[in-house]
Amino acid sequence: MKTYFVTGGAGFIGSAFVKQVLDRKPDATIVNYDALTYAGNLANLEDVDSDRHQFIRGDICDRAAVMAAMPEGCDAVFNFAAESHVDRSIESADEFLRTNVIGTQVLIDAARTKGVRRFVQVSTDEVMGSLADDTNDYFTEDSLLQPNSPYAASKAAAEFVVRAARETHGVDAVITRCGNNYGPRQFPEKLIPLMIANAFNDEPLPVYGDGRNVRDWIYVGDHCAGIWAAFERGIDGKAYNIGARNEQFNIDVVTSILDALGKPHSLIKYVTDRPGHDRRYAIDPTLAETELGWKPMVTWEDGLRSTIDWYLNNSDWVNNVRNGEYQEYYAKMYGGR
Ligand SMILES: NC(=O)c1ccc[n+]([C@@H]2O[C@H](COP(=O)([O-])OP(=O)(O)OC[C@H]3O[C@@H](n4cnc5c(N)ncnc54)[C@H](O)[C@@H]3O)[C@@H](O)[C@H]2O)c1
Repeated sequence: MKTYFVTGGAGFIGSAFVKQVLDRKPDATIVNYDALTYAGNLANLEDVDSDRHQFIRGDICDRAAVMAAMPEGCDAVFNFAAESHVDRSIESADEFLRTNVIGTQVLIDAARTKGVRRFVQVSTDEVMGSLADDTNDYFTEDSLLQPNSPYAASKAAAEFVVRAARETHGVDAVITRCGNNYGPRQFPEKLIPLMIANAFNDEPLPVYGDGRNVRDWIYVGDHCAGIWAAFERGIDGKAYNIGARNEQFNIDVVTSILDALGKPHSLIKYVTDRPGHDRRYAIDPTLAETELGWKPMVTWEDGLRSTIDWYLNNSDWVNNVRNGEYQEYYAKMYGGR
């Protein structure tokens, strides 16, 4: 059996990764370590094969707890745990620096002590900043790291923590940088589930600025397969861009959702733009395709349709996460705009 230590495995992407690995790798056992912040949800793990999955609630910044939870000599650490929402980082960056930077250092230190074979840092294309929207430029692995939001800065800093551990201590490490994910079980503060939920409830759909910001969307399962490919076949010390060559204007994503649900475009409400809002992300995934033998399998049309269906068929999940703290957050973010 192989043992993997996954952090943030009760979140959107981490839970999809845990399930995909358990499904595809019968010799895999996963220790899933997650603090269960507002974004972590045990309901995301309800259908997991429990014999090969152990959940431990804990904070990646808690050194003693990480040391106690991480199995000796495990095959990999996959670090998904993070504060992940740009808007929240603009309101307050403290928790982003604590979890995303200090937490990554704690995990690296524990991985060294425990003799972990490989450290996989799940990063984001946002570390590379923004592309102009009137060019054909793409993010490559050689692009400069020039983050523009506190979230992106904390993720870039985490990459440097991992790089330094490799250069200084010889930690075997790979980094993945992915674009915007979509799919089931994404917390509804993020664009696609937010718009699906609001459209379904005939509530206004808040669109930042002119709606012409471009994001490069990928289905969550394709991202997870890319992370696994980087773990299995990635070269020590390298970063790999994971993307599906699927650039979309935000406004087109929103109208596609309205059309799929048969709702009027008059529900769209343009709101004051996010400060420092990156204009365009676009990933060149050639290195991952050639060196890792990875490619995305889910088309935008199929992925968006099945994602919308999932939210429509799982209203209990949606209503549970839209209760309580989420309502306060929503009023704060969009109430005055
Ligand atoms: N969502 C995207 O589009 C996207 C794209 C590229 C990269 N990423 C990266 O992928 C990772 C997962 O993103 P996501 O969208 O699933 O995020 P998410 O917010 O849905 O989940 C984050 C998870 O981390 C846990 N967590 C937060 N702080 C923790 C702490 N201190 N200790 C332990 N656990 C903690 C939360 O409880 C939650 O389960 C993040 O590192 C993010 O930067 C996300």
